[in-house]
Amino acid sequence: MKKWLLLAVFLALMIASVLHFAVDVGVVLPTNVEPRWVQDETRFREALKTTKYSVEILFSQGSPAKERENVEALIAKGIKVLIICPHDAVAAAASAELAKKAGVYVISYDRLIMNTEAVDYYVTFDSVEVGRAMGRFLVEKVKPGTKNNPLYLYAGALSDNNSFLFFQGAWEILQPKIADGTFRIINSSEAQKVQNKKNLTRGEMAKIIGQITTNWDFNVAKRKAEDDLTRARAADKGTVYILAPNDGTARAIADAFRADKDVKEYYITGQDAEKASVQYIIDGKQSMTVFKDVRILVKDAINAAQLLLEGKKPTTTAVYDNGKKKVPAIQSEIQVVTKDNVKQILIDSGYYSEKDFIWPKK
Ligand code: BGC
Repeated sequence: MKKWLLLAVFLALMIASVLHFAVDVGVVLPTNVEPRWVQDETRFREALKTTKYSVEILFSQGSPAKERENVEALIAKGIKVLIICPHDAVAAAASAELAKKAGVYVISYDRLIMNTEAVDYYVTFDSVEVGRAMGRFLVEKVKPGTKNNPLYLYAGALSDNNSFLFFQGAWEILQPKIADGTFRIINSSEAQKVQNKKNLTRGEMAKIIGQITTNWDFNVAKRKAEDDLTRARAADKGTVYILAPNDGTARAIADAFRADKDVKEYYITGQDAEKASVQYIIDGKQSMTVFKDVRILVKDAINAAQLLLEGKKPTTTAVYDNGKKKVPAIQSEIQVVTKDNVKQILIDSGYYSEKDFIWPKK
């Protein structure tokens, strides 16, 4: 009798502990070294305060092996939905397939997982539009009627599908202005080869990105910019136009260009509205950033997860082809931030607090 009682208590404890540790939604983010993804974590934690579901957030530290380990750990904890931003779009397919096999819904977050059917939804910003906004900004800064303005191109990591989307959007706007002689590409022979072509194939883009990649790493970005400046002639300097793929790399590239005495003035793009870049914009060291309101992305991802947990279907607004599947997507808009509207867009909206920055004295 006593034995049975003990066993019953033991089983009850086991069930209680499984219930206690069971996780409904797993979130896997690529790294916490970049402020962008720490921002996502913060916004997830804020948003999660109001849901009844349990969520666990893990970082992959830029390693596909760690990413897979994270996915396996979350599956073992019984997740029903996986929200994952892959470090490497192709390598992550195996992890997505693992989750799918375990009956888990897979939501690709911000970056699309490629070449697999195991992605149910994609929650993203309009990344092609991010690139277009960067391209438009540079074109608008050209003094009317001038020709041969030096253009330096930099891109994200080849392993990230977004790098292609950003470049595609930027190229769409910049290419006609390269073809008509307004801009002259300084640092990419691969881009020069196709400079009369508006629509590039993925292969052509891969060649260019391979040459100008920062690998999303500000050290790589800085080194590349310094090498480009060492190779460039004085005529390739003066007032220059720089396509930088995001804020972390933009600050590194801007630092390199500012240190070159032959660079008189530069216009440089960015994205993410990272705090350090917002300060750079206030100080006139970075020209713009594309603001992607992570609060919206997080809300969309959590809403989709909740609907799936309740057996419902999220409403989608776009479709992205990952090579194997046309993935239904929930897409949100972006905003351009410059010195002129930084306060209105980032402070007045409550995204950041005014006291996070040093403002010029009035
Ligand atoms: C994201 C950017 C980010 C970059 C580097 C991209 O996939 O969309 O917001 O800056 O990765 O982490």
